[in-house]
Amino acid sequence: MSGAIAWRTARLSCRLAKPDDAEALWRYRTTNREHLASWEPLRDEAYYTQAHARRTLEEWMAGVAQDRVYPVLMFDPGEREVLGSFTFSNVVRGAFQACQLGYGLAGDQQGKGLMREALAPALDWAFGTLGLHRVMANYLPRNARSGRLLAALGFEREGLARRYLQIAGTWEDHVLTAKIAPD
Ligand SMILES: CC(C)(COP(=O)(O)OP(=O)(O)OC[C@H]1O[C@@H](n2cnc3c(N)ncnc32)[C@H](O)[C@@H]1OP(=O)(O)O)[C@@H](O)C(=O)NCCC(=O)NCCS
Repeated sequence: MSGAIAWRTARLSCRLAKPDDAEALWRYRTTNREHLASWEPLRDEAYYTQAHARRTLEEWMAGVAQDRVYPVLMFDPGEREVLGSFTFSNVVRGAFQACQLGYGLAGDQQGKGLMREALAPALDWAFGTLGLHRVMANYLPRNARSGRLLAALGFEREGLARRYLQIAGTWEDHVLTAKIAPD
């Protein structure tokens, strides 16, 4: 991938994570620990340290260099605070040209349309610049807000996978959705 990976929207500055984002990422994780816990895998205490945030960023950077993962941080326009993040991960090329999309927003930023604002241009970028054909996103049946977000972005339901991901320590069914590149 060449060129800067960054977008400005009306209310956000979104860009690829960088090695020196460790403190901002750590602050986002610790501030939103309770809010995000019910939607994510179990985390141990080490996850909530700056050292872990640094390690995550190193792993992400290695993944970007290998065209495997594209982790994007969503900041306020002045880039003082991380408001959320999303990741295009498990990029597979060849005949598939697909990836998975995961996302999360700070608890106090929900319900303002911010994730939609961030993801709409990011999906254009994934289908355009990244050249992907299929972006897949899965959600817990009880996560109605996530389901509404994906439907609004043009994702279509493809099925229900039983006991698909371990969320907060429990194997949970997930609704499978995907968005295909426009013709
Ligand atoms: C799922 C999640 C990312 C949604 O973020 P969000 O920014 O609230 O989602 P949207 O961008 O779709 O915002 C839509 C909501 O904002 C409201 N809204 C307010 N102003 C708006 C505007 N200007 N434009 C669009 N929507 C607006 C909409 O009415 C809608 O409300 P509703 O969801 O109660 O119907 C967020 O709730 C989250 O991080 N949850 C915890 C983690 C998680 O679930 N991750 C995903 C796992 S699959």
